[in-house]
Amino acid sequence: MRRIWKLAGIASVVAAAAGLTGAPAAQQSGSPPSNAPPAATATTPQPPPAPPAASAAPAPPAPSAPPSLPFSDGKVADGATKAAVCAACHGPNGNSVNPEWPRLAGQSAAYVAEQLRLFRSGVRDNPTMKPLAATLKDQDIDDLAVYYEAQTPTGLEADPSYWQAGEAVYLSGDRAREVPACVACHGPVGRGNLAAGYPALRAQQSVYVVKQLNDYASGARYAGANAPAGDPNAMMMLTIAKRLTPEEMRDVASYVQGMR
Ligand code: HEC
Ligand code: HEC
Repeated sequence: MRRIWKLAGIASVVAAAAGLTGAPAAQQSGSPPSNAPPAATATTPQPPPAPPAASAAPAPPAPSAPPSLPFSDGKVADGATKAAVCAACHGPNGNSVNPEWPRLAGQSAAYVAEQLRLFRSGVRDNPTMKPLAATLKDQDIDDLAVYYEAQTPTGLEADPSYWQAGEAVYLSGDRAREVPACVACHGPVGRGNLAAGYPALRAQQSVYVVKQLNDYASGARYAGANAPAGDPNAMMMLTIAKRLTPEEMRDVASYVQGMR
């Protein structure tokens, strides 16, 4: 859970930058978050100032060792084996062919692991994924997460009627209605921000994308009164999705489905 809180810390900074929290912007709004690993300083409590060195007494060990890389214990090869059961729905190498089942190929490992934990705890309330996630141990989650991040999404096509309007939403948002540009967090080619756990959207099934935007807006994606407050990452999308019209959801979903 500690890791999730760290990611959440980053998310709040970006949300503030994007003007989603009403807090003063911490950086130029619209500038994409960097791909740097989560800054340890943002949430790691600093050790108290060292007391004046007392003669020969050895210094106590520093309480905050630098955090290890996320999923350094995940193994792609083990994930490939464990993903056999997932392939029935998520497709070979995570390239689902069913429009209602999300693609996982190239998805951020941090995001996949977070979502699997949320399914497992029932906070992301989905009758299909909950029983599957309930069987996963932490090691399984890490292996599956690094496996899917290592896969290549294969292209889907955007619906020619909608993608241009969708591109405008994706790249520019709508300042007048405080709809932020999706590109700020999901990136210019929809790769997301892997390290921060902002999901990739490129080549995602548009039907799935529309369902998620509606689920964020209605509150159906996360169950329980505490869920949004407990996950500031999700909180940002609740706010954004509520500001989108059904047409904008359709258009932007079509656009991301065609992104490579
Ligand atoms: C019976 C079909 C099925 C199987 C098998 C299945 N999933 Fe899923 N999975 C789904 C559906 C449907 C969703 C979308 C749920 C929703 O609409 O919120 C989903 C969502 C997900 C998500 C969230 C994706 C996102 O972009 O937020 C992850 C991660 C995931 N599944 C991983 C797995 C893993 C790992 C396995 C194997 C252990 C697995 N799934 C097996 C149907 C399945
Ligand atoms: C301030 C950063 C930010 C902006 C701007 C943003 N998103 Fe997101 N988005 C996120 C984060 C973080 C998540 C993961 C939330 C969670 O944990 O549920 C997410 C999740 C999503 C998902 C669910 C992905 C999945 O695989 O289930 C969709 C779809 C999505 N965003 C679409 C959009 C669209 C469309 C826009 C522009 C109108 C947008 N986002 C703007 C940060 C952002």
